[in-house]
Amino acid sequence: MMQQTRRASQPYTGEMSVFPMRILGIESSCDETGVALVELPPSGAPILLSHALHSQIDMHQAYGGVVPELASRDHIRRVVPLTRQVMADASLALADVDVVAYTRGPGLAGALLVGAGVACALATSLGKPLLGVHHLEGHLLSPFLSADPPEFPFVALLVSGGHTQLMRVDGVGRYELLGETVDDAAGEAFDKSAKLMGLPYPGGPHLSRLAQGGRDDAFDLPRPMLHSGNLDFSFAGLKTAVRTHLVRLGWLDQAALLADPVNHATLVDLAASTQAAIVDVLVKKSLAALKATGLKRVVVAGGVGANRLLREQLDRACARRGIRVHYPELHLCTDNGAMIALAAAMRLQSGQAALSHEPVFDVKPRWDLSMAGAPT
Ligand code: KG4
Ligand code: ZN
Repeated sequence: MMQQTRRASQPYTGEMSVFPMRILGIESSCDETGVALVELPPSGAPILLSHALHSQIDMHQAYGGVVPELASRDHIRRVVPLTRQVMADASLALADVDVVAYTRGPGLAGALLVGAGVACALATSLGKPLLGVHHLEGHLLSPFLSADPPEFPFVALLVSGGHTQLMRVDGVGRYELLGETVDDAAGEAFDKSAKLMGLPYPGGPHLSRLAQGGRDDAFDLPRPMLHSGNLDFSFAGLKTAVRTHLVRLGWLDQAALLADPVNHATLVDLAASTQAAIVDVLVKKSLAALKATGLKRVVVAGGVGANRLLREQLDRACARRGIRVHYPELHLCTDNGAMIALAAAMRLQSGQAALSHEPVFDVKPRWDLSMAGAPT
């Protein structure tokens, strides 16, 4: 590809051959507003120049979960100041942005519309192309920003609040679904069990913290579909089993439960057993996917990828089998703008970006990852 020297404010002509190329990424699919700036050098890996994040967790905690209308309104408040911060941190001006990328889906429609609206307005006013990115592709590629980036091909375990999928990844845009949850996602299993135990939203990290020092085998909890013979998951039964134990113990008053030291020790055991059941299934199914594909590399991405027990157990099981495990940096496991700018950069680098010449204001609240490269 012929290289040119970049000129600030150069209008988009349909030829993306100006290096270094700077991609602004905007994430607003759920309860985090993330903005980031990634630079694509003439050769080599994309570089994260700056990123900024605002989490809405405190705001939604009072309601025990994400309130979509509040999420959208907060994204509106945050996205422009975060964009300013990202540009200032990189000592660049908006005119230095070559491509504007945003999360096109999947996610909450209203929340997605905020990021899409701002991205579309920016691209239009700057005369630069707009690129809609699949949120899961962002998670999937996020380990490429780590100090130990993976190489293709690999098995990906995508574990977020809304998705649990195993994929074979042969390259950018080459994703084959191997298995997925038939009901709740792993993050949902954490969050719903934690809620039953009286823990704040989002339950995953809280349950994980409570579980420290607890006995993994104190409660007999189901590992659904462990022996299903395929690579699908099911977590809905786990939450029901947790509820059954809580009811059997007469623990319906969660505030009293958390405050009572005797009950507290048992609750710690229940949290440890719940976490162990989720992690056990995730590790065993990942190993089964590695065996089925014959691949020797696995990438873990999505919010649940921050779970310490999952990392420990997967590392241990894979080390014994000579398999390399890659994770995103801990702070890039949950939603962020860096993974969106990165996914856009990697799409551009591999010549697979469906850039809109005329920015189109568009979101896809439901969107299959296999369609992520389809033109707008
Ligand atoms: O990827 P993410 O930020 O959002 C979605 O795209 O869904 O993932 C959020 C999920 C939540 O369910 C949260 O409880 C879970 O990730 N999570 C964790 C941990 N940190 C976040 N689950 C278990 N252990 C953690 N340390
Ligand atoms: Zn996510």
